[in-house]
Amino acid sequence: MCGIFAYLNYLTPKSRLEVLDLLVTGLKRLEYRGYDSTGVAIDSPDNKNIVMVKRTGKVKVLEEAIQEHFSAGDYSEPVMTHIGIAHTRWATHGVPCERNSHPHRSDDGNGFVVVHNGIITNYNDVKTFLAKRGYEFESDTDTEVFAKLVHHLWKTHPTYSFRELVEQAILQVEGAFAIAVKSKHFPGECVASRRSSPLLVGIKTKTRLATDHIPILYGKADDKKLGPDQEIRPHGQSRELPVLPRSESTSEFMPLEEKEVEYFFASDASAVIEHTNRVIYLEDDDVAAVRDGTLSIHRLKKSLDDPHAREITTLKMEIQQIMKGNYDYFMQKEIFEQPDSVVNTMRGRVRFDGNAIVLGGIKEYIPEIKRCRRLMLIGCGTSYHSAVATRQLLEELTELPVMVELASDFLDRNTPIFRDDVCFFISQSGETADTLMALRYCKQRGALIVGITNTVGSSICRESHCGVHINAGPEIGVASTKAYTSQFISLVMFALVMSEDRLSLQQRRLEILQALSKLADQIRAVLKLDSKVQELAKDLYQHKSLLIMGRGYNFATCLEGALKVKELTYMHSEGIMAGELKHGPLALVDDSMPVLMIVLRDPVYVKCMNALQQVTSRKGCPIIICEEGDEETQAFSSRHLEIPRTVDCLQGILTVIPMQLLSYHIAVLRGCDVDCPRNLAKSVTVE
Ligand code: G6P
Repeated sequence: MCGIFAYLNYLTPKSRLEVLDLLVTGLKRLEYRGYDSTGVAIDSPDNKNIVMVKRTGKVKVLEEAIQEHFSAGDYSEPVMTHIGIAHTRWATHGVPCERNSHPHRSDDGNGFVVVHNGIITNYNDVKTFLAKRGYEFESDTDTEVFAKLVHHLWKTHPTYSFRELVEQAILQVEGAFAIAVKSKHFPGECVASRRSSPLLVGIKTKTRLATDHIPILYGKADDKKLGPDQEIRPHGQSRELPVLPRSESTSEFMPLEEKEVEYFFASDASAVIEHTNRVIYLEDDDVAAVRDGTLSIHRLKKSLDDPHAREITTLKMEIQQIMKGNYDYFMQKEIFEQPDSVVNTMRGRVRFDGNAIVLGGIKEYIPEIKRCRRLMLIGCGTSYHSAVATRQLLEELTELPVMVELASDFLDRNTPIFRDDVCFFISQSGETADTLMALRYCKQRGALIVGITNTVGSSICRESHCGVHINAGPEIGVASTKAYTSQFISLVMFALVMSEDRLSLQQRRLEILQALSKLADQIRAVLKLDSKVQELAKDLYQHKSLLIMGRGYNFATCLEGALKVKELTYMHSEGIMAGELKHGPLALVDDSMPVLMIVLRDPVYVKCMNALQQVTSRKGCPIIICEEGDEETQAFSSRHLEIPRTVDCLQGILTVIPMQLLSYHIAVLRGCDVDCPRNLAKSVTVE
């Protein structure tokens, strides 16, 4: 939800045009997070003002506007030190338009400008507080109150540093946010912070950094909140906001002081990797401030288990991983990467020669997991479907009750959780707010938390007790594809680990391990169906609806296939449990309703054939996904897609690929934006 990018160059000469170029490139990398509208803020050539450009629509529109707005001349003069901030938006408060686009400003003079990701839940209270003091609002957003609050504090507390102003403002706001602030009054400085929304700082220096740690400086803040009609009165004295105590260093580490340095503040690593691989992932309520080229990290309060420093980590990502290469869309690239991504998920973990599996991230917790009362798998969207896909195998190989839950519903129900529950949180981004909230809910109740994520350093990753990185590589297309198959395999590997010492299950384990070893080649074979799928897409793309039916191990493919079709093509689509057909959905079937059915030679084959007959006898003409050479099933339709035979519990990996391809081709034929479907965003950091 929304992408934040800020770039600060200190004693590293860059023209404003170069800075704008960097900002726009950063936004392009973050566009998957939201693409309703965009904006940038930089210093004016005389350094006396802040210039902003905002546009409705995607980053490309902003890029064109920048080319128009900033002619060479003054903007091509190099500046030694400068800070620019940028934003790509997924609207929460107020429709997408220039007025609601970020950066938001504090006043007509652009004293403070802010970019924000998340939701400030008490923005109405803050707005009332500020309106009483004469502030007028120009947008419908929650973000604008933050810029104006900082301005109010600056006017009332002229001795505050920039960082202290932002810290004080943060104390007054509730909700989830990541912010970066720039100010005309504090040139060359940047202050950024996060609470429940991701934010990292990239550091680029000419020589290797002198330290791998940035110290944390702690304050002792009074954190009373604004009431709708009252002001904060620190210690019952002042009628204005309190003056914060200065932060103190409690550590032996030195702040990061570099002579020539560039800093990047970004919502995720893909926006900084082309500049540097050295990053610090900020934690909730960290305030990162750069002044005179020195980065320091502050926290308002110290709790017992707080560390003394934040570590600078080295990203393992490669720039090619976030480029489209020869593909038209990221989604297409990611679908075709699956023969490799599934191998990467298993790499170093599965030994096919010795039939052994080691999951380093949860190894030590396996005895505890084996003693648990039940397993709970929690996620949203596609990640939830990977739980549905593997539930049956987990029940079989762990012999434990397994619950699968949509994170939002799980929280709505206040689901009872016990200390001896093991809760898996599945998330590609590792930042999905609903999943993260559910994680915190379970953690508070003493459950063991296992993270299954694709994003190293993400919130879910850091807040889990243990976990599995699915190692699918960066996924940029908003509709998830390769992350699904890698989540699927991660959960299968977990099931195999849990059944390692069960004699009665050895034959089954062997069968699955052998099937895993063939998977990459089989995925390659399925991908060869691409042109056939494209032909089928031509039959379907002008229809209004598509029903996708299956059961058993393939029900999850129906749900995931229907989600892909909805997300990408804006057509209605429904994943239907074939056993439920006669209880309602059959009424939808006639000779014109598009239907796709998955009918494989597994234990529910006969039941699937019943469903197929129920459909064809109502004049339905389904497309069938079936096994290679299965003529008996193919006889029911002239349109079928044949996939290679594999063990029942892995079929879902092969059957989902034609669904990914089908939704992709329908979207292209309908002229939809495949990588950025309307109204959606990849990383949903709001509840
Ligand atoms: C969004 C995306 C979906 C994704 C879901 C969960 O809704 O559009 O594609 O499946 O979030 O995301 P996560 O990062 O937690 O897997």
